[in-house]
Amino acid sequence: MMDSGKGRVTRREFVKGTAAMMAASGGGAALFASPGWAGSATAGQEQARRVIIDTDPGVDDALALLLAMRSPELKIEGITPVAGNVPLELTLPNALRLVEIAGRSDIPVAAGARGPLVRRLVTATYAHGENGLGGAVFPDPTTKPIDEPAAEFIRRIVRKYPGEVSLITLGPLTNIATALNLDPELAGMIRGLTMMGGSLSGGNITPAAEFNIYVDPEAARIVFQSGIPLTMVGLDVTRKTSLTDEHVRVLQAAQNPVSQAAAKIGRNAIDHTRERGYLVGPNMHDSLAVAGFLDLSLLKLEPFYVDVETNGELTAGATLGYSPVAGDLRRKPGMEKNAAALNMPIRGAAPTLASRKTSPVLRETWTPNVQVAVDVDARRFFDLLIGRLAGKT
Ligand code: RIB
Ligand code: CA
Repeated sequence: MMDSGKGRVTRREFVKGTAAMMAASGGGAALFASPGWAGSATAGQEQARRVIIDTDPGVDDALALLLAMRSPELKIEGITPVAGNVPLELTLPNALRLVEIAGRSDIPVAAGARGPLVRRLVTATYAHGENGLGGAVFPDPTTKPIDEPAAEFIRRIVRKYPGEVSLITLGPLTNIATALNLDPELAGMIRGLTMMGGSLSGGNITPAAEFNIYVDPEAARIVFQSGIPLTMVGLDVTRKTSLTDEHVRVLQAAQNPVSQAAAKIGRNAIDHTRERGYLVGPNMHDSLAVAGFLDLSLLKLEPFYVDVETNGELTAGATLGYSPVAGDLRRKPGMEKNAAALNMPIRGAAPTLASRKTSPVLRETWTPNVQVAVDVDARRFFDLLIGRLAGKT
C-alpha cells in the first residue's frame, strides 16, 4: 500500500491500494459475495492462529481476555493495553492481573498509549468503575510488562510472522494507528483485524459514536483506510449480548480461578449497571469480538465502505456505513454479484459556500473496506463464552 510518505494513507492512495489488493487477492469477489452468516473460521483449523490483543480493561475486556486465554485456537503473541475505559495506569495492571488469573504469564504484555493521537483522553469510569473492573478487587500483579512499547511490539511481531498475525482490538485504536504510522508497510503484512468498535445504528457515549471510535477517531480513520482486511463487531450486534444473573450463577458454580474471577467481575458489573438504573446489561461487547474471531459463524456479515467522522463537534467518532445492497432499501437478491450495478458515489457533507469544492462526492465508486457484523447468534455466543470461562468447553 503506497502512502503519501508521511506514514498516513491518503484516501486516494487507499482507494488505489484497496482496489489493487482486492483484484490481486480476488477479495473483490469475496467482498461482493452475497452477505450472510459466515462460515466458521475454525472449521478444519489445525494450528493455533497467531493474534495480538489490544485492549483497555475494562469489565468486558476482562471477560474477553479470559475467554481468549482459555481458547486453544489462539496463539496469543501478546497483549497491548491502551488508555480508554480507564487511564493506562489502570489498564496496564488490569491486563497483568488477568494474565496471572488465567495462569498465562507466558504472554508478553507491552504497554501502549496513554492517550489518543490528537485529543484529550475521555474515559468511561462511569461504566467500568474507578478501578476499571467494575469495582471487583484483585491482588496487585507481580508480573511485569516487557520493556518494548506496544506499537514497536506490534510492528516486530507482525514483521516476524508476515501474513500470519491477526489483531483483535477491544479498545481505542491508538496503538494500532501508531504502529501503522511507524511502519507504512505494516498494513500489507497484517492478516486481518477484528475490532470491537463502531456502530451503524447509533452510539453509546454520544448518539453518534461508539466509545472506542469516539475516544480516538483519527486513529480509527487510519485503521479503516489502511487496507487491512477488517471485521467490525459494533454495537449493532453487541447490544444483543447482555450478561445475566444466570450466566454469573453458572460461572460461580464452576470451581476454577478463571470462572471465579469472571463471576466476581460479572456480579459487580451487573450490580453497578442496576444501580445506574439499567434493566439489562452489561453487554459483552469485547467478548463478542473475540468469540466472532474464534467462530465467524456466530455473526452475519455484510460488506460496507465505512469511514469515520473526525470533524463533527457533536458527531466525531461516528462510523458511517455505505452500502448499495444493505440497509432498508435492499436491492433484489443477486444484485450484490453485479458489481456494475453496485457502483454508487460516496457522498460527504454538502460543500459550504466558502469551500472551493462544488460537489459532495468524496469517492466516485463504492469499494468495501470492512465486513460489518449485522446480526449475531446470541445463544451460541453465550454457550461459547460461559462454557469456556466455566471450563466446560
Ligand atoms: O463501546 C464499547 C466498548 O467501549 C468496549 O470495548 C468497552 O470495553 C469500551 O472500551
Ligand atoms: Ca474495551
